[in-house]
This record gives sequence, C-alpha cells and structure tokens, in this order.
Amino acid sequence: MTDTKLRNLDPAPKLDVSGFRKPEHDIAPIFLERWSPRSYTEEEIPDSALMSCFEAARWAPSSTNQQPWRFVYCKRGGENWENFKEAIQERSRLWAKDAAAIVFFISKTAVFARGEHKISRSHAFDTGAAWENFALQATMLGWAVHAIGGFDAKHAPRLLGIPEEGWQIHCAVTIGRRGDKSFLLDEFAARELPNVRVPLNLLLMQGGFKPELTDFPPGTPGAPR
Ligand SMILES: Cc1cc2nc3c(=O)[nH]c(=O)nc-3n(C[C@H](O)[C@H](O)[C@H](O)COP(=O)(O)O)c2cc1C
Repeated sequence: MTDTKLRNLDPAPKLDVSGFRKPEHDIAPIFLERWSPRSYTEEEIPDSALMSCFEAARWAPSSTNQQPWRFVYCKRGGENWENFKEAIQERSRLWAKDAAAIVFFISKTAVFARGEHKISRSHAFDTGAAWENFALQATMLGWAVHAIGGFDAKHAPRLLGIPEEGWQIHCAVTIGRRGDKSFLLDEFAARELPNVRVPLNLLLMQGGFKPELTDFPPGTPGAPR
C-alpha cells in the first residue's frame, strides 16, 4: 500500500503472458500482452510517450470521420491532479492515484451532418476504438494502462470542467510503469495477473442471432463472476 510504503522506480519485470493467455487462433502478441495491472512505480511518463498513445488513439476509425473523442488528461502532480483523483470513485482511487497520468475518454454526443445537429449513434463505439488504440500503443511502449468505469459520474463533469450537456464521459484510464504488486493493498495484489476470456464459440453467431448464446453457461472459464 503506497501510503505507508515508499514505491520505488524499479519496474516489475515483463510478464510472460503466454502462461496465462492462450489464443485459439493466431493473433499478434500485443493483443494478449495488454492487460490491466493496478500497481505503478513512481516513474513519470514523458510527454513523448503519452503523446504517442494519444497519436495512436486519434487514428482510430470513426463514423463519417467525426472523431467525437476528446482526451482530458493530467499527469501525476500536474495542475488539477487533485480533481482528477477525486473524479475517480474511492475504491479505484486507492491505486489510481499512483498512476503517472489519468486520462478521461469523453465524446461529443451530437454530430453535425447535412446542416443539422443529430444525436450520434456511434460516438461511444468510436471512442472505444480510440481507447483501445491508446492502450495497445502504450503496451507496445512498455507502459501499463487500466480503464476505470468506476468514476464519479455525478461530480466528474464539475471536477474536470466538462459541460453536463452534449458530452459523455466514458471512462478514466490510468497509465504508468507497472510496479511490484507489493505496492498494492492485499485485495488488489491477489488479482494482479492477466485474466482470460470465454471461448470464441460462445461469441460467434454465424448467420444470425443465436438465443442459446445469450448467457455464458455456469462455470465457463473466463466468464465474469
Ligand atoms: C470500460 C471499462 C471499464 C472498466 N472499469 C474498471 C473499474 O472500474 N475498475 C477496475 O478495476 N477495472 C476496470 N476495468 C478493467 C477490466 O476489469 C478489465 O479490462 C477486464 O477485466 C479485462 O482484463 P484485462 O484488461 O486485463 O485484459 C474496466 C475496463 C473497461 C474496458
């Protein structure tokens, strides 16, 4: 727990995810190497690395190239850092406060097309693609990322200066150099490992919707508990 123990600058050794994650088909290793640790060292993130991640994010595809995403961010200790931490719910804040930066992925909920403003049907989908680009680029550069849906939806707009109307906050994302799990509270340290996924055959609906695939069978490995 970082309040009582000084975190150091030694990153945790790169973890061989192949012992945890087995793809059913050939994929690029980066998809398995990205996972969501919670422990961070005290290393600061240089702008060059952070900007590379944002650069990757902005090349995500979006409906009619609207690019509805915006990246509201603060580096640890930067101006407004206290508000960024406060915008995250208490439980996740216990570890998120140690990240080198926090990024809120937000999007514009309306599009301007053919002379009129309309509610966008894809702003959330588009922004999800941007977040994944960000995460994969960070992983390629050796930085750890963790998305946090548990932000304070009521107070985050005020804390971050985001208008209540016309914008949606999707997620907070922490980024930093992965640290030793001993920096974490025991309950988080016990979960500091890559997880798995449900088998692909429970996700594929060839030819149309398959009602039998609505829920994962009890005990399915990789299913949410
Ligand atoms: C939109 C979103 C919200 C999430 N919210 C939280 C959260 O509030 N707290 C948390 O500890 N992890 C959160 N996560 C992390 C997920 O639990 C994690 O991505 C998932 O278990 C898959 O594990 P992996 O990222 O290590 O592959 C979130 C992830 C996403 C994409």
